[in-house]
Amino acid sequence: MKAEIIRLLKEHNAYLSGQELSERLHVSRTAIWKVMKQLQEEGYEIEAIRNKGYRLVESADVLTEAELESCMRNQMMGGHVKFFETTDSTNTEAKRLAEKGAVEGTLAVAEYQTAGKGRRGKSWTSPSGSGIWMSLLLRPKLEPSCAPMITLLTGLAVSMGIEDYCKIQTQIKWPNDLTLSGKKICGILTEMSADVELIHYVVIGIGINVNTPKFPEEIEKIATSLYLESGRRLKRSGMIACIMKRMEEYYKLFLETSDLSGIQKLYEERLVNRDREVLVLAPKGEYKGICRGIDKDGELLVELEDGTISHVMSGEVSVRGIYGYV
Ligand code: BTN
Repeated sequence: MKAEIIRLLKEHNAYLSGQELSERLHVSRTAIWKVMKQLQEEGYEIEAIRNKGYRLVESADVLTEAELESCMRNQMMGGHVKFFETTDSTNTEAKRLAEKGAVEGTLAVAEYQTAGKGRRGKSWTSPSGSGIWMSLLLRPKLEPSCAPMITLLTGLAVSMGIEDYCKIQTQIKWPNDLTLSGKKICGILTEMSADVELIHYVVIGIGINVNTPKFPEEIEKIATSLYLESGRRLKRSGMIACIMKRMEEYYKLFLETSDLSGIQKLYEERLVNRDREVLVLAPKGEYKGICRGIDKDGELLVELEDGTISHVMSGEVSVRGIYGYV
């Protein structure tokens, strides 16, 4: 009911009377009043005027289950939201939910992570009140080798979702970091449970620096936030909903073909590496080349000096000028 009230308040610029709300939602006017009080305490600025009703003046950057649900529109991705004020890691939470049988599209979101995880065993700093720390549960009936493609399509979905929400254009550093002005604003960590032939589930962890006002000295040259780059404080719930909408769109396209052909062009348009020199840190040794895009399986196409094209599957790729590689 709370999510429905938030949604109705957001949709109506005018006053909504207690009577109207109680009739629509089949609850008493006292119950409506209690929810309004709760919402005000959570940070929503709600005007309550006798004989007129309630009006939402301004909603703060609130992250709660009800707020998130109020933003999602009949969609599978984010259709079930679990919100945690504090948790160790939303990836770990999503895995726990998966083991208990949670449905595809379940989204775990946290305000604060005590043990946020980054790629290659690194930790991910996840302070309260400024970022998006969330993990999405997927259950594709595909081979484990398909998982990296889901990570790539997520990078694009996050980039497009951010643009839909606030018109800020980010770029993708292959395979799935998002950058703005050459610095990182988003990282993605995919974890999977599978047997040799089939994926049981995939958890995609997404960390976005949204309103972060400052970074520790040791990372301020390589990390930034949407706020630092645009000067705007953004509401996270609406941004999450836009990302989930894009995620749903691209995931459906991906399932139709089991490859990235449906989004390849869009991905390449955002690829920061494109036509730039890249340093491929391959297991057999480093080599340089010019990035020419990706293939339909999400492999990076690197043109070598002799004109041949190398397909880079995974591993570290450093781009000249990005994160300080020169
Ligand atoms: C990276 O190293 O770039 C990946 C960072 C992924 C961070 C996100 S925050 C939400 C989710 N929960 C985690 O513990 N990690 C991911």
